[in-house]
Amino acid sequence: MSLVYKGQNLYIDSTPIKSIAKKNITPFYVYSYNKMRNNYQTFYNYFKKINPLICFSVKSNSNVSLISELGKLGSGADVVSEGELRKAIKANIKPNKIVFSGIGKTEQELTKAIKTGVLLINIESESEAKLINKISKKMRKITNIGIRINPGVDANTLSKISTGKTDSKFGLPKSNFLSFCKNIKKFKNLKIKAVSVHIGSQITSVGPYRKTLNTLYKIIKLSRINFEYVDLGGGFGISYQDKEKKIDIKNYSRLVDKFQKKLNCKIIFEPGRFVVGNVGALISKIIYIKKNGNKNFIILDAGMNDFMRPALYNAKHNILPVLKLKKKLIGNVEFVGPICESTDSFIKYKNYSILNENNLVAISDVGAYGSSLSSNYNTRPLASEILIKKGKVKIIRRRQKISEII
Ligand SMILES: Cc1ncc(COP(=O)(O)O)c(C=O)c1O
Repeated sequence: MSLVYKGQNLYIDSTPIKSIAKKNITPFYVYSYNKMRNNYQTFYNYFKKINPLICFSVKSNSNVSLISELGKLGSGADVVSEGELRKAIKANIKPNKIVFSGIGKTEQELTKAIKTGVLLINIESESEAKLINKISKKMRKITNIGIRINPGVDANTLSKISTGKTDSKFGLPKSNFLSFCKNIKKFKNLKIKAVSVHIGSQITSVGPYRKTLNTLYKIIKLSRINFEYVDLGGGFGISYQDKEKKIDIKNYSRLVDKFQKKLNCKIIFEPGRFVVGNVGALISKIIYIKKNGNKNFIILDAGMNDFMRPALYNAKHNILPVLKLKKKLIGNVEFVGPICESTDSFIKYKNYSILNENNLVAISDVGAYGSSLSSNYNTRPLASEILIKKGKVKIIRRRQKISEII
């Protein structure tokens, strides 16, 4: 996490949160550039030997400034919609470092991707291949595609973010993949360049990845195609709570090294959460505190529209006071948002240090699937996003005006 206490005050890197909050309306997202750069470089260094192409998964955080900063570090982009593709281009990511994933790309989206000349369109059905072939023929182009395989592997993560099991909607099952490979010649305007896979998100053990590599190796051999790329997707888990298990990437990297040597292919990764998950906090103000039964409800000005992971996945994100008051404890607390839904609740604690109305708090580790999942529910404006880089406070998305929603 990029948050630290100096004395009683909470800082992000060397900037006090309090000083950022003086000039910005809460709730707002704040990110540490240093932490993001470290995460990116740590990830790359694990796999340095094979010099992979890292395509940052834009869905995890689609702020154009962050994508652009990652681009300057060498990252490409994994996009899943025309909007994300256009953001990646705006962030100066070169088309030959962009992969386009997703099971339901429309004709308009595919046309845009083909025109742009992205590195790969990862297809997830034979119908999609037919459509890409038709559009490419019309445009007199040959389009590079990857085929997403559904390896039938359980990622042992939350069911709602598991994507590699046989009964999930993602990718081509092994048998369909092999028959597709046999028929590929009939698609004259497609060039088959890659196999791709993504088995889920917040994966904390290497086992599912090992199974996936084994399955991929076997199936690639059976296809008798020399794929130039194997895109191994993302999913690398981080620890949101103290002592929570996180993925042992070093161990995984050894398996990938061997895999790459055997196939002599280029490797692509699509990490999202690992790069940005722990770089950000959502700063919010306590509007009211009220006691119902024996519970103190701490009502924040941030709601599930600003940060949806707790409501959507039951995810636990710690909440820290921006000013840590002396020891006095207040017993049971539940931090909730202002929205009229019981699920608009962030976290419960059996005990918590004393808080007052108008105090600020920081919801931690919200860099991934935070702002990108936010919405205008309850006609609430999207929060601003702020980047701390070299001690400077830069607004990288201004707070939406209510008039813009109306
Ligand atoms: C195809 C694809 N690639 C990459 C990712 C990024 O996953 P993560 O943020 O867990 O690394 C996702 C997210 O689920 C995805 O669907």
